[in-house]
Amino acid sequence: MEMLNTEMLQMMRDPLGAPIHPTIVQVLLVATFVLHIFFVTLAVGASCFALWAFWRGSEWQRRLARVAARLAPNAVGLGVVTGIAPLLFVQTIYDPLWYAANTLAGFWSTLFIFVVMGGYSLAYLFYLKGSPQGKLLWASGLSLALLLLAGWIMHVLANTALYPEYWREWYAPNREPDTRGIIFHAYNLPRVTFLLLVSSVLSLGVTLMLFAWYFRQRDDADREYLTQVGQLGKRLALVAAPLLWVTGMMWAFTQGRQFGLHIIMALVFTLMALLLREGFRNLDPLTGGVRALGIWLLSLLGIGTVREVIRATSVARFNYRVADYPFVWDWASVLVFALTSIVGMSVIAYLALVLYDSGKGEVRPWVEKLGRISIGMLGAWLALFILLGLRLYL
Ligand code: HEM
Repeated sequence: MEMLNTEMLQMMRDPLGAPIHPTIVQVLLVATFVLHIFFVTLAVGASCFALWAFWRGSEWQRRLARVAARLAPNAVGLGVVTGIAPLLFVQTIYDPLWYAANTLAGFWSTLFIFVVMGGYSLAYLFYLKGSPQGKLLWASGLSLALLLLAGWIMHVLANTALYPEYWREWYAPNREPDTRGIIFHAYNLPRVTFLLLVSSVLSLGVTLMLFAWYFRQRDDADREYLTQVGQLGKRLALVAAPLLWVTGMMWAFTQGRQFGLHIIMALVFTLMALLLREGFRNLDPLTGGVRALGIWLLSLLGIGTVREVIRATSVARFNYRVADYPFVWDWASVLVFALTSIVGMSVIAYLALVLYDSGKGEVRPWVEKLGRISIGMLGAWLALFILLGLRLYL
């Protein structure tokens, strides 16, 4: 049976191979997942806070709830954009796992995009038309429910992929094919609580501290309000850190144990909880935002690496190793990928810097110069893209 699973995984790989060395793809997969999980958990955290504060928050909390309601759809948008990147990479080196999981949960993976669209649209509607008087609070509640469902579907897909030994049984229980794809075959409650719920408290906490850090520099800054926001952010992060440890331990001793990874996971999560607690304890709530973000992103990198080690350990049981994935350097693809990344990142850096500067009052001349250069590069890149397309078509 094991032999059969091994052959199945080898044969389901893309016969053309990866266009670059698979280990590079694996590193990019983890790195982009960190950004993805940060934004989606921020969306969940901001949604929860807006809902709670509009419902029963005090004056300043409602003022902040308006910001959170605005943040939620933006964070979903960024979560979707940063989700496409790990999607690309996971499909490149783990295609047998990804497509099998998507088939086995076909009903949900088809519904997924509509769930995300619904979650986004309702969050946007609430930001646009909701009010502290409770108008459209239902939209915010439903949006949160849809976002949680989206996270749950993602979680089931990621977990189904970890157990190739059950795929045939799940696809055809008692040899009767079940093509509905409606059953949630694999999940781990501590893992999803850790990744989706507890992490959302930390992502929100860190972002509130960043908010206080950023707006305190303005001349018209309301320092009392900003201090309250920063303190709330710090308190949320400090409450979430031990919860992350507890759920991390539960994840380690359930799923981790299945793959013999419990000791290493317990160690990583203990160190992470200590880093978070010590890192946040002495932070000034008004000026510590950037450090808080750094500490949380570092922890997320650890979490992303643990996820990857679990997957690699699972498939190693069937002799499937990313480093062995066939590949041919496809220099044209690498060139287009590199160009797109450079142009895209410089445009994004420009937009972020303009937003940052305009919040403070004046856009620095070098930022304007960067803008001209990156827009020029974007034009050149578009022209190249269209010319390349025409050349291949004609
Ligand atoms: C179109 C939108 C989205 C895309 C393309 C996307 C893509 C992905 C991909 C490819 C992974 C797996 C990465 C890997 O296996 O290494 C992932 C994981 C995950 N995503 Fe998304 N995602 C999207 C939206 C969302 C939303 C809206 C949420 C929740 C609010 C979410 C929550 C999660 C979670 C919790 C995981 C980790 C699951 C686990 O490991 O248990 N995603 N996403």
